[in-house]
Amino acid sequence: MSALAERTGSINLGQGFPDEDGPREVLDAAAAALRAGANQYAPLPGVPALREAIAAHQRRRYGLALDPETEVQVTFGATEAIAAALLGLCDPGDEVVALDPTYDSYAAGAALAGASLRRVPLRPPGWRFDPAELAAAITGRTRILLLNTPHNPTGRVLDAGELEAVAAACREHDLVAVSDEVYEHLVFEGEHVPLATLAGMAERTLTISSIGKTFSVTGWKVGWACGPAALVAAVRGAKQFMTFAGGTPLQHAAAAALGTAEAHGARLSAELAAKRDRLCAGLERAGFDVLRPAATYFVNADVRPLGHDDGVAFCRDLPERAGVVGIPTSVFSGDPERVRTLVRFAFCKREEVIDEAAERLARL
Ligand SMILES: Cc1ncc(COP(=O)(O)O)c(C=O)c1O
Repeated sequence: MSALAERTGSINLGQGFPDEDGPREVLDAAAAALRAGANQYAPLPGVPALREAIAAHQRRRYGLALDPETEVQVTFGATEAIAAALLGLCDPGDEVVALDPTYDSYAAGAALAGASLRRVPLRPPGWRFDPAELAAAITGRTRILLLNTPHNPTGRVLDAGELEAVAAACREHDLVAVSDEVYEHLVFEGEHVPLATLAGMAERTLTISSIGKTFSVTGWKVGWACGPAALVAAVRGAKQFMTFAGGTPLQHAAAAALGTAEAHGARLSAELAAKRDRLCAGLERAGFDVLRPAATYFVNADVRPLGHDDGVAFCRDLPERAGVVGIPTSVFSGDPERVRTLVRFAFCKREEVIDEAAERLARL
């Protein structure tokens, strides 16, 4: 869809990347590290300063204690951490349970490991899951429960009851939890609670996050996995022969940035909440039914009030008809029918871009 946006000169509200740069001091830290000669391979686990900064962030913000030597692994973005976790922890024939719709790398990562994804539906408009469906998705072959909260593409923040249902399932069936928390700082309503903080979960949860969303530097691809040493060792073992270790100057800059994650995250989420309101209002004016998100930088909108019933066809035609690109929510789902009429739009764009997109959509 980004290529289509480029080709048609459309406003790209498809792919989730901000159209403004990250904070100046974070960019300066990267340039300084590059000039200071941090340009060779990083150590496989990641540069010590970043591993210490990740451990300090988890302790300060969530009260989670980690040994930066053995319980933190730096990766090329959260995406590599997810792939390495699935490769390192699954055997062929294993099953991975995830909420559906999902970030699209989950099914692919499971397939790389010879495992398969079993999906537990989040149903619009509330995007909640049914604990009975979660229980039914777990079989004797289930190895991992792969969670994502705050959740893409729905913008949901799982509440205490839902997290407890996930934790209870992991404890009862002795599952490893892999918890993708890349939007941990981009929350407007509710509170992000890491799965690892629930009773009995720290010892079985691998927490994954990255610098990309929090600091608006999605192209840096500096991420991490942290948790019990045995789980981190599995990630490290797989990562070693996928990519080994690099992005060294960016790792140093990420270490400096993480110390300001709360202050910067609070500023950014206040800005994003205003952008969410702006785009939601624009979509409503254009006639969509809007499913207002509590977090992330994505909103889903239903095309039925506009006389359409297929988000894929709608998104294919939208660049020609309106000069705007969105992504059909069904591409994130194993059950496309359930979300067939929804389109995901990203609001991590400048206000004037959001306004222009809203105006174009209103002309539909
Ligand atoms: C839920 C989720 N996990 C992971 C990622 C990727 O993170 P990274 O860019 O750090 O690989 C994304 C990016 O869109 C995402 O939405």
